Formats: sequence, C-alpha cells, structure tokens
Amino acid sequence: MTSFFRMAGLAAGVWLAATSAEAQSFPERQITMIVPFAAGGPTDTVGRLIAEKMSADLGQQIIVENVGGAGGTLGAGRTASAEADGYTMLLHHIGMATSATLYRKLAYDPLNDFDYVGLVTEVPMTIVARKDFEPADMKAFVSYVKENADQITLANAGIGAASHLCGMLLMSALEAPIVTVPYKGTGPAMTDLLGGQVDIMCDQTTNTTEQIKGGTIKGYAVTTPERLAIFPDMPTAAEGGLEGFEVSVWHGIYVPKGTPADVTSRLSASLQKALADPEIANRLGELGTTPSPAADATPEALKAKLESEIARWKPVIEAAGVYAD
Ligand code: MLT
Repeated sequence: MTSFFRMAGLAAGVWLAATSAEAQSFPERQITMIVPFAAGGPTDTVGRLIAEKMSADLGQQIIVENVGGAGGTLGAGRTASAEADGYTMLLHHIGMATSATLYRKLAYDPLNDFDYVGLVTEVPMTIVARKDFEPADMKAFVSYVKENADQITLANAGIGAASHLCGMLLMSALEAPIVTVPYKGTGPAMTDLLGGQVDIMCDQTTNTTEQIKGGTIKGYAVTTPERLAIFPDMPTAAEGGLEGFEVSVWHGIYVPKGTPADVTSRLSASLQKALADPEIANRLGELGTTPSPAADATPEALKAKLESEIARWKPVIEAAGVYAD
C-alpha cells in the first residue's frame, strides 16, 4: 500500500510541477479574445484596444474573434466550453449579468463556469436617433416617443445586450411599446441608423461619439448621473424628464473555469499594465470613458461586480417581464 501512496504522491508532484512550469512559460502561443458581438461595435472597439496592449506585454498575438448572436450569450457559451489553459478569454460587459436572468435556459452558469481576470472600463450610454428624427430635444423626444411608439423602431444587439437593457428601461420609463430590431451588434445597427433604416437606439459612447460629433446621428441624452465632458451641451436623461434613468456598461475579461491561477494572474497583471498605458486612457477618453483603476482590474473585483450586478438587475428584469426564452 505504501508504494501506491508513494507513486500517487510522486504523480501529484509531477503534475503540480508541470502545471506550475506551464504557467511560468505562459503564454507560448497566440491567445484568442472572444468578443460576443459583431465587429465594429463598442465591445469590439474596447476589445481591440486592450488586446493590442496586452499582446505587446505578453509577447504573443491576441486574436479578436467576434462571436455574435443571442445578445452575447453565444460568445460567452463558446468561452465557457473552451480549454481552461489561458489561451481563450472573453471580453464581455453588463450583459454577462443581465443574461443570467433574461435567459432562463442559459447554456452556461455566469458565476460558476468562468474564472475572472478583471474589470476593464465602464462606458456611458447615449440615447440617439437618425439625423432627421423629428423631436428637437430630449423633452420633445420623450413626448414624441410616447405618442408614436408603435411607429418607431429601436435598434439593439439582441436580448442580453446593453442596448437591449437600455431600450427596455426606456420603454418602461415611457410606457411605450416601441418596435425593436435586433442585430448581431450595434456596429451593424449603427449602419442602419446612419442610413435612416431604423429610428432610435441607446448605445455606448464608444460607438456613438464620432457620429454625434459629426452630425450623422442625433444625440438626445446621456444615461449618466452627470453630463459628459465630451458632450457638455447634451442633457442627462434625468434632465430630459427621465428621473433616475441611469445605466453604464461595465466590461470585464473572463476565462474558462479551471484556468490555472498563475495564468489568470499573469493575464490580470497584463490587463492592469494595458489600462495604465496613457494611449489607452487617451483613446477611451476621446470616446467618453475611462479605464478601470488597477484595483478593479483584478479577479476579485470582477467577480464581486458580476455577483452584485446579477442581484441588481434580476428584480428589474422580472418586473419588466421580458425574457429571451
Ligand atoms: C451592446 O448593445 O451590448 C453592445 O453595443 C453590442 C456591441 O458591442 O455591438
């Protein structure tokens, strides 16, 4: 019996040494960052900015793979079932929390099928419309949408997307059942808004800033408690008559459950270095947002944020009674 335990101990020691050695040499090949929405949208924008900086730090290419569909849950599901070796990570946002309630038959468990790398940024949203949308300002927008809800189309990136959540809150606040048009991301949705094929959208400043400044779409309000420095003349939704209407889109990086802790720590350190890079702060600042502080770019902070946000949005979604399945 003794020889059995000696062999088992030896095998465990060899496994631990191999795992530790593997983690120490990580990464040895390119990494995939899954972005669960179409290319060209706000999540993709943040993903590519961060991937470029982390790639330089890690010394390996980070390939962004857009896996759109079902409000981000297809991409999250693909990550949950990937090899837990650090070579697949997911950049997702508030949808990771809202989907936990919106999808009653989710293919993964947001809290138990992932390990955590850290928070990345928290992006404000803007209520926008095609450039010839009739209302002159937010107060007129509120009245107009209330009166014409069934003739207005609202674009979103599918149930579970941030644009879906904001649109759902808008419809609840206005008691207006607006016709929604889902896309695989608000990148393609923006194309139709610019072309006038769809009327309104609630989307992140990382996707709307340049179009608003260029006058190719109309910006009516921001969904933050205070006005944004990049849009000093644009009112908050509250100023426009939607008291307490606040939603910001926090983003985090996840890896499959069981990824070695040393590997996750290496990824978190690389993320923190990327977020401290002045180029990232400048670019995110131009797009109306800021990088998460280093203390939030940690596994513990992201897990705590996800747990609190699932608890926060569950009653709101249940009150709205809107589910994906
Ligand atoms: C969302 O609405 O969740 C995002 O804007 C989707 C995207 O990044 O395309």
